[in-house]
Amino acid sequence: MTDRITDGSLGQSGPATRCAMKKIALTGIKPTGTPHLGNYLGMIKPALELIDDYQALYFIADDHALITVKDRNELKRQVYAVAATWLALGLDPRKVIFFRQSDIPEIFELAWILSCFTAKGLLNRAHAYKAAVAANTEKRRSPDAEINSGLFNYPVLMAADILLFGSRIVPVGSDQKQHVEIARNIAAMVNQTYGRVFSLPDPLIRSEVMTIPGLDGRKMSKAYGNTIPIFAEPGHLRKRVMGIVTDSRRPEEPKNPDGCNVFKIYKHFASPESVKRTRRGYTMGGLAYSVVKHELLDVLEEKMGPLRATYRDLLDTPDRIDQILARGAAEARKVATPIMEKVRRKIGIRR
Ligand code: TRP
Repeated sequence: MTDRITDGSLGQSGPATRCAMKKIALTGIKPTGTPHLGNYLGMIKPALELIDDYQALYFIADDHALITVKDRNELKRQVYAVAATWLALGLDPRKVIFFRQSDIPEIFELAWILSCFTAKGLLNRAHAYKAAVAANTEKRRSPDAEINSGLFNYPVLMAADILLFGSRIVPVGSDQKQHVEIARNIAAMVNQTYGRVFSLPDPLIRSEVMTIPGLDGRKMSKAYGNTIPIFAEPGHLRKRVMGIVTDSRRPEEPKNPDGCNVFKIYKHFASPESVKRTRRGYTMGGLAYSVVKHELLDVLEEKMGPLRATYRDLLDTPDRIDQILARGAAEARKVATPIMEKVRRKIGIRR
């Protein structure tokens, strides 16, 4: 266990002080589903790469998770799993303000205020809600069957997350682009009414790493059940990797590396030389898919094996995670309070 993680103390030039100098990058992490390699490459890694250039505020969106997770133990388990994952993968709590959404009551105050500036029609058009309605219609059920208003209002809560901290960029997957646009829309409505209250956020989307294939070749996603968990135990990891779907070309046949699901994952983890060698092996023929699967296993184990131990350690000591998140919440509130105070004044619920 490194000091980096044990010591979440922020010292003199803690994050809140640095906020004065750096633009804010903020993102929410929904604690639903075991984090997988698609999450790592598409979201976690790019987000961690921003932390020297921005003041990062990364939080666990537990209140958003409540829309779908109604089992208290499951929710708790997921929150710790996600927090431990990010910490093990290198999130340094001395640099990043890392917190739980539910520790910041101002988010809810702002969410209400924002809802009064949000056209209902805008929410009718939000993808997640529309998809739920479409699914009901297809099953010939009434359009809103089993849709809670948390799902409907999801984009407003997310706008509050984003706007409360003066976020300038929001690193997200492409599926969240519309939500960031909605936040921008709402902010613009408020600004139009009262003069400049909010900074306008932009989504930051890494298109090049967006489509990591899962075991079956479709986008790796919890919804498809085709994921490779980041910290799967070796035996489980092996089963998953060996289960990646390939075509039936025999070892000696030439193969197209860019059409191979194993390669599409491998190339993100292996060294440039190994990637080149594998690419050549495939094109020339003589390289079996199973050999590359073993190489993928080796590089994954090399990279994630040691971090898995850190992950396990953290899960065994949830108090440490709580402590880090509590400190993060205190820092986050230092950023949020002046903005919330300004909002109250601007709209006239304070002098
Ligand atoms: N909606 C995001 C997701 O499903 C999570 C999230 C909640 C978020 N609040 C946010 C992302 C604010 C960015 C900014 O992944």
